[in-house]
Amino acid sequence: MAAIVLIGAQWGDEGKGKATDLLGEKLQWVVRYQGGNNAGHTVVLPNGETFALHLIPSGILTPGVNNVIGNGVVVDPSVLLAELKGLEDRDVDTSRLLLSADAHLLMPYHVAIDKVTERFLGNSKIGTTGRGIGPCYQDKIARVGVRVADVLDEKILTQKVEAALEVKNQILTKIYNRKGLDPNEVVDGTLELAEGFKHRISDTRLLLNHALERGETILLEGSQGTLLDVDHGTYPYVTSSNPTAGGAAVGAGIGPGRIDTVLGILKAYTTRVGEGPFPTELFDEWGAYLAKTGGEVGVTTGRARRTGWFDAVIARYATRVNGITDYFLTKLDVLSSLETVPICVAYEVDGERVDDMPMTQTGFHHAKPIYEEMPGWWEDISGCRTFEDLPKNAQDYVLRLEELSGAHISCIGVGPGRDQTIVRREIV
Ligand code: IMP
Repeated sequence: MAAIVLIGAQWGDEGKGKATDLLGEKLQWVVRYQGGNNAGHTVVLPNGETFALHLIPSGILTPGVNNVIGNGVVVDPSVLLAELKGLEDRDVDTSRLLLSADAHLLMPYHVAIDKVTERFLGNSKIGTTGRGIGPCYQDKIARVGVRVADVLDEKILTQKVEAALEVKNQILTKIYNRKGLDPNEVVDGTLELAEGFKHRISDTRLLLNHALERGETILLEGSQGTLLDVDHGTYPYVTSSNPTAGGAAVGAGIGPGRIDTVLGILKAYTTRVGEGPFPTELFDEWGAYLAKTGGEVGVTTGRARRTGWFDAVIARYATRVNGITDYFLTKLDVLSSLETVPICVAYEVDGERVDDMPMTQTGFHHAKPIYEEMPGWWEDISGCRTFEDLPKNAQDYVLRLEELSGAHISCIGVGPGRDQTIVRREIV
């Protein structure tokens, strides 16, 4: 086996943790390749225990799996240590977590700048998670970032923090009228935190490539989702990294030819957190119904998620830009007991039917969904374990999504638990 990419096909929160966890026992490695603690994965173990993970790959909950925070991730050290402690307090073995020497450190000034920038943008705000993600990636691209390995050399760390704060403090104090940060305090604070993770710093790209040479299987776990990708998403209402499958090779340091499966996670309806266009968004009682029945509250921020019907234009787009080979359809049970289930099959943009993602931001803002109505089902499907166990109308709904999305729906989630999954085709 080789590398598998796991990627959200919509705006994130599709239930990726459940898929990782399902595959967990067949994998030797799970790697996070982008994003930071803006992500939130909920994993429910068979005994009912629930874990919310933000920075650490969900493979940490499967004994024997090696977990890597790859070079493409931005790491807030205080969040990392708090998350490790939370797991250790619940007797989870965290010894198999490694941290790429090249991952960027998310510093206190990134959080400060994220918050003031959003406030400054007013109505044009992105609706970020406020975790400093954008400012940290800005520093990475501007080549003034601080990387994990810098904590191994106090002199270098000090130089980098001083250089960064020389500019950032001017911005914080002169533009935003906030207090600046003391470089010595930032360095000391970082070095103190580093004592808790130093032993995990590794050349993870070397280890991953050796693992591939040994024939081991690696899961590259994307955070956020396709439409939050800085290149392929609904820019500027996106995150600052590349969750799409191509980002996995870059963010982990393996060749793209090593990836042989791209597993897209697709929720049976759509949700979005933060600002930005969302053609199938519902503002009526059905939106409230999906939010309530689906428990649609952000794991990281606790914000209520916006909800809407399934959008096949988006799914087709995700299939294409990620090269999705298989889909894991999640939360089908949430749609039980609807009279009919609408599916958005295309958009109307300025009076014309459009079957694919509009080329321009304005086109997407103007997109109005064209719906097809599928007959609903009343049965409780949470106990179904084979495709044939599903009511006929639920089967037809899945088959129609498959046809419209352009990739095989191999797994179907019918409840939050680890065992509440129908596997139509094995992924590994
Ligand atoms: P940032 O990643 O905090 O900069 O936020 C940018 C946008 O991505 C905002 O709309 C966030 O709500 C959204 N976002 C970031 N992480 C997640 C996630 O894990 N799930 C869903 N939305 C997210």
